[in-house]
Amino acid sequence: MSVIKVAILGFGTVGEGVYRTIQSHAEELTSVLGRKVEVAAVLIKNKQKTRDIREDVLITTDFAEILNLPQLDVVVEAIVDKEQPFTFLNQAIQSGCHIITANKEMFAHHGNELLELAENYNVSVGYEATVAGGIPIIQTLRQLLNVNRVRHIQGILNGTSNFILTEMREKKQSFADALILAQEKGYAEADPTNDVEGFDAFYKTMILSRIAFGEQPNWKNVERAGITSISRELIETAEKMGLRFKHIASISKTGSQINAEVKPVLVGKSHPFYSIEGVENAVNIHSDIVGSITLQGPGAGMYPTASAVIEDLVYVCQNRSSNKSITKTTAACDGEKKGNEKELWLIQGLSKNYNNPLITWVAQASDKIAIIKATKEEIEKLINLKKATCYFQIIGEYDTEIKNKEVTLAVL
Ligand code: NDP
Ligand code: HSE
Repeated sequence: MSVIKVAILGFGTVGEGVYRTIQSHAEELTSVLGRKVEVAAVLIKNKQKTRDIREDVLITTDFAEILNLPQLDVVVEAIVDKEQPFTFLNQAIQSGCHIITANKEMFAHHGNELLELAENYNVSVGYEATVAGGIPIIQTLRQLLNVNRVRHIQGILNGTSNFILTEMREKKQSFADALILAQEKGYAEADPTNDVEGFDAFYKTMILSRIAFGEQPNWKNVERAGITSISRELIETAEKMGLRFKHIASISKTGSQINAEVKPVLVGKSHPFYSIEGVENAVNIHSDIVGSITLQGPGAGMYPTASAVIEDLVYVCQNRSSNKSITKTTAACDGEKKGNEKELWLIQGLSKNYNNPLITWVAQASDKIAIIKATKEEIEKLINLKKATCYFQIIGEYDTEIKNKEVTLAVL
């Protein structure tokens, strides 16, 4: 029986998960692909580390040795940073290999170049693991986009942030302790700043944008914020008000303009993301024919990510002659236009006595934390005038939450 030869770049959480899954699911892979899948080589950085890898596998720090292997079919990339992995994958494509990547930072920056190059070399690109861990969001979007026009995508796309917010609320953990736990579990990036400052979710949003709308917005116009400004006090107060913090990415297209933002917001019990907890991710796609679909599942970690890579392995091996990796035909569709409407905000630091006719007070949770109704512009003015310290938008339905609340809360 002929063999599909695979090289894995990186043997950390993801690389090792892929290696182990190829061994543990060898029978299923052979059955679906009609050929045995064999890991021929692993690229690592530090040769001193001990690793549980079979003796017949080439372990090297030199990518050239991997490219020189006879009849290599697929290169799986699961390393960090963006330029070096991009160079490796470029070379792999030019050597006739299908490529699969889990590296969202690299793919958000260089995905277009790799997809075009792969098309020229008649090989396929798998990047399911770049967005939302084990959730098959990319395959789902590809399938939906055969005819549907996507209007809006909203998602919890960073497992580490969601895990930290849940730990801080449920177990009263400090931010720092929750982050350490996320690192120990293999959820966090090598540089966790990417997770907690919203960069990781931003990269994932840019990848989704290219699939859903055929292009990315200008990165400079995308609001990006992480979860570092959310204290335990804010989380506890929000909980008393029937609200939970979620780090949410949103993307939509209005006319020819793509609007995207990645930031922490508050959601009430009726919001589909309210009960997405721990390392779970969720993605809601709104498209014109089907309406609204929500997918939920583990957003990070060894096996969920390996699952996405392995499904890609099947995908790229089955699509050698028909490269379906590029979505170029996405029709522009009009998302809902957003004006400068009044919205609900949780605001911290605004004095109870502050009087401004433009702002409607909705509820006072504590001396310094309240819910108000205002436009984004008005809120930003308050911050600029140093009348308040921070603010978070409340999205979805909320009114009924306040009325039904059992805690002492002044509804104004
Ligand atoms: P780890 O830090 O656990 O592992 C990284 C691996 O890459 C290590 O084996 C390291 O080698 C190797 N490596 C790093 N730089 C180089 C280099 N220049 N040349 C050769 N090898 C290198 O990272 P993860 O496995 O967590 O993540 C890998 C990629 O997958 C990242 O891009 C990440 O964003 C992405 N990802 C991670 C997920 C997760 O849940 N962890 C989920 C989805 C995507 P050595 O062992 O010698 O140090
Ligand atoms: N650090 C990422 C996260 C890994 O926590 O979501 C999955 O992409």
